[in-house]
Amino acid sequence: MKYPHFSLFCFLLLACFQITASSAQEKEIENKIENVLSKMTLKEKIGQMNQINGRNPTDNLYQQIRSGEVGSMLNIGSPELANQLQKIAKKESRLGIPLVIARDVIHGFKTMFPIPLGQAASFNPEIVEIGARIAAKEASEKGIRWTFAPMMDISRDARWGRIAESFGEDTYLSGVMSMAMVKGFQGTDLSNPSSIAACAKHFIAYGATEGGRDYNSTNVTQRQLRNIYLPPFEKSIREANCATVMTSFNANDGIPASGNEFLLRNVLRKEWGFDGVVVSDWGAIKEMVQMGFCEDNKEAAMKGVNAGVDIEMTSGTYLQNIEALLAEGKIQMKTIDDAVRNILRLKFKLGLFDNPYTNLTSKSSIYSQEHLDAAKQAAEESFVLLKNKNNILPLNNKVKTVAIIGPMADAPHDQMGTWTFDGEKVMTQTPLQALKKKYGKDVNFIYEQGLAFSRDTIKSNFSKAIEAAKQADVVLVFVGEEAILSGEAHCLADINLKGAQSELIEELSKTGKPLVTLVMAGRPLTIAKEVESSDAVLYLWHPGTMGGPAVADILFGKAVPSGKLPVTFPKYVGQIPVYYNHDRVGRPADKTETLLNNIPLEAKQSSLGTSSYYLDAGFDNLFDFGYGLSYSTFEYKNLVLSSDSLSQSDVLTVTVDLKNTGNFQATEVVQFYTADLSGSTARPIKELKDFKRINLKPGESKKVEFKLPIAKLAFWDINNNKVVEPGKFTLMVGGNSYELLQKGFTILQ
Ligand code: GLC
Repeated sequence: MKYPHFSLFCFLLLACFQITASSAQEKEIENKIENVLSKMTLKEKIGQMNQINGRNPTDNLYQQIRSGEVGSMLNIGSPELANQLQKIAKKESRLGIPLVIARDVIHGFKTMFPIPLGQAASFNPEIVEIGARIAAKEASEKGIRWTFAPMMDISRDARWGRIAESFGEDTYLSGVMSMAMVKGFQGTDLSNPSSIAACAKHFIAYGATEGGRDYNSTNVTQRQLRNIYLPPFEKSIREANCATVMTSFNANDGIPASGNEFLLRNVLRKEWGFDGVVVSDWGAIKEMVQMGFCEDNKEAAMKGVNAGVDIEMTSGTYLQNIEALLAEGKIQMKTIDDAVRNILRLKFKLGLFDNPYTNLTSKSSIYSQEHLDAAKQAAEESFVLLKNKNNILPLNNKVKTVAIIGPMADAPHDQMGTWTFDGEKVMTQTPLQALKKKYGKDVNFIYEQGLAFSRDTIKSNFSKAIEAAKQADVVLVFVGEEAILSGEAHCLADINLKGAQSELIEELSKTGKPLVTLVMAGRPLTIAKEVESSDAVLYLWHPGTMGGPAVADILFGKAVPSGKLPVTFPKYVGQIPVYYNHDRVGRPADKTETLLNNIPLEAKQSSLGTSSYYLDAGFDNLFDFGYGLSYSTFEYKNLVLSSDSLSQSDVLTVTVDLKNTGNFQATEVVQFYTADLSGSTARPIKELKDFKRINLKPGESKKVEFKLPIAKLAFWDINNNKVVEPGKFTLMVGGNSYELLQKGFTILQ
């Protein structure tokens, strides 16, 4: 560089200018907020705190908007209606404060991407951000400027239907994916009409719902909140400026999230400096009465407002009770003003005061080829290859006849998964369609459903399926879950394949033909038996609109699987909760345990060992976090640390040599874990700290480098302070959470 100092000077000048400009813009918005607030009546202020369900608008709703009793709406069915409602708010209400229109745009709007659990399996935040950007473009065309996503609940329980919407069990991965999704939704400028406000949900610890049953209680300690559940929210807010937060349905340690003043005011506002909007979940304010946390709707409104919930979603207790609560001195005017400031700030940042209407004439981007291509890439990268005996995959040119069997091979609605309000099954490209279209010239596909849907128990069509299998060189059987079997309120006590799917697989395996089992599901399923009967297993999650073309190219090797499990698969539902980063225990299992069938008669009390395992299940899982095969193989060598003793302000540099030792160009997700060998509290056996997707040609090697600021090893200690504790650590690098190269290092006092 010719004039390094001059270039640095220009950079710093530009940075200063940008900082100045943004703080000037923020100041301008604050002035505008105060200007509007100063003119508002109490009723109008309360109206801003009221969110209405717009699914079936009535004349009364139009009147409510005119009188300033509605601040935001969800589930508006069309951009025309959105514009009509905005026009009433803008032109016919006293102050013309615009509405903000919200919707659940969870994993795509029209072009459906894989469910978030599948997106997490890609370990590719870039494609997650692209998917959210596409969803924002498509949704904003229809008048939506606020989505209730990303859902970032740490989920360790496959019985819980909402694990489908999560990024899985790991705090670090969930944080990275949540931040990517927030950036995608919000873009670089929230006032851009194609940007939509994101919503960090569900605040907090909803995924720890007891028994994996939705809307149940949670009992997560403060330290667990800090170390496991809160970090993705903090990352999304402090590093990606997530505009809103939604309180969750659960009461943690007896305190409903919508009435938890410590979390909403001390943590969210004071510690993290959050200046966005807190919205309750649907009816969650009123439900505090049902929980026995409040005597009646009036007390629920009081506790919600005082705890810091700015907007009440649909249950209307704010509208009915805030005026009286103020008169009785049970809430303060400043509390109301601060809530309204947060709401007006969101609307100014979205540019709604200047531009409340949706452009109905611009060229639509919905289902554009660019969007479909991105959805295909996301689906391809979400698939996890769990088994590939004798490298039966990818299918080679010797394969001339393929039997396509199963209820999920051509299930355009169910393939999209849960939370697809606006997805259109007519646009879904299924595996059956895609395989025939792209590979039908060279391969003869025989299709027999065998079962009509995932819960189907009628076996009358098994014979046709088996006959098709007998004629084929390879059998592909698509099984799993209908979309309705996961998602909100859809929890299962038994996570085996439903209906007669397992029997179908068993009968197909008896034909002796090479059997590839492909699973479309919203959660880990207990499929140990089916894995045993199959030669190959590919987990597709619910892959969205382009799942068919994606799986077709993966099966024929045009694309190579790179997905890794974002969640542990148990062998039995009784093992749940299972997750890789569990705390160390005093008597860990060590594989010497005696299992049920090996227990001698009249065995002596302590003859079976005394360690942490199940007599009937052992202690290991079906598949572990971070696991996933490729068509190629990778070798890890030469793990090197920049130092083996470091101070708390140091940065540890770690390198490892990665080689593609197989025959396919492929991507490996290199995972970097650390383990704190002792601390002021029991510590997890390991924790994911970083990962990188590395693409290598056959025979190619690369030195992969990770940089770990020692500060990143901080955790909330026995005194609930966030500290880096000195002591011995291990670091580990590998292609999953258990086959790892490792080395020790010490953090100095
Ligand atoms: C639902 C969900 C929440 C969603 C909201 C609006 O009950 O819990 O995730 O955003 O209501 O549909």
